[in-house]
Amino acid sequence: MFDSGVGGLSVLKAFRQLAPTERVIYFADTAYFPYGPRPAPEVRKRSFAIVQRLVQSDVKLVVVACNTASAAALPDLREAFPVPFVGMVPGVKPAASRSRAGRVAILATPGTLDGELFARVVDDFGRGTRITTIPGSGLAELVESGQAGTPRSREALRGLLGPEVQAGADTVVLGCTHYAFLQDDIHAEFPNLSIVDTSEAVARRAVQLLDEGGLRGPSDQEGELDLIVSGDREQFRAIMRQLSFEPATMEARQ
Ligand code: DGL
Repeated sequence: MFDSGVGGLSVLKAFRQLAPTERVIYFADTAYFPYGPRPAPEVRKRSFAIVQRLVQSDVKLVVVACNTASAAALPDLREAFPVPFVGMVPGVKPAASRSRAGRVAILATPGTLDGELFARVVDDFGRGTRITTIPGSGLAELVESGQAGTPRSREALRGLLGPEVQAGADTVVLGCTHYAFLQDDIHAEFPNLSIVDTSEAVARRAVQLLDEGGLRGPSDQEGELDLIVSGDREQFRAIMRQLSFEPATMEARQ
């Protein structure tokens, strides 16, 4: 699995609950964080370099646990590497069916909102729903610097989502894996807003692909977690801890 930082841990958490004995390598590309404002070719280049590194370790499946990287690189990665991929797609479909008001806000990075993948899902599943895109400026940075659950993150969410909620949106799609860690803040600010987070669905899809491909590891093996961090490793571990990663998953090597 990889992401620009801690965001993909939301997918990892769900995956480990579903498949606790699988071994996972999590690559956090913190030296290049944030991906959101970077041009797509740059994010694609990083995604290729990371997957190159992961396949060297003989991984059997790659989860692109980052919406921005999925938007920039997923089809090209699938073509270039002989492993199955699971990527993130903003949950427009579940949001459109869930919204009673027929009005949905999509919170994501500029890279995701500008991408073809997003345009396609809106086209496929967003008809009949009023969809407003909101670039989550600064939000991933707040999560990455350990400020989820603070007055600062709630203030930022108020500013970004407030106008659309007041205008009648009753559902928000978290289109960036970092935002999964802001769910409590969103709920505190907007108690009636329904939140669509696809982390668990993506983890479920990954497990399904492993099952279908006969790729599951032995059921008695230890579910180790190897961590690769391109930036400051200690800082990353500190934030991991703050995001309540249980001690077992902290046994990270490399
Ligand atoms: N977690 C990433 C995503 O899902 C992006 C955060 C960033 O800007 O690096 O889009």
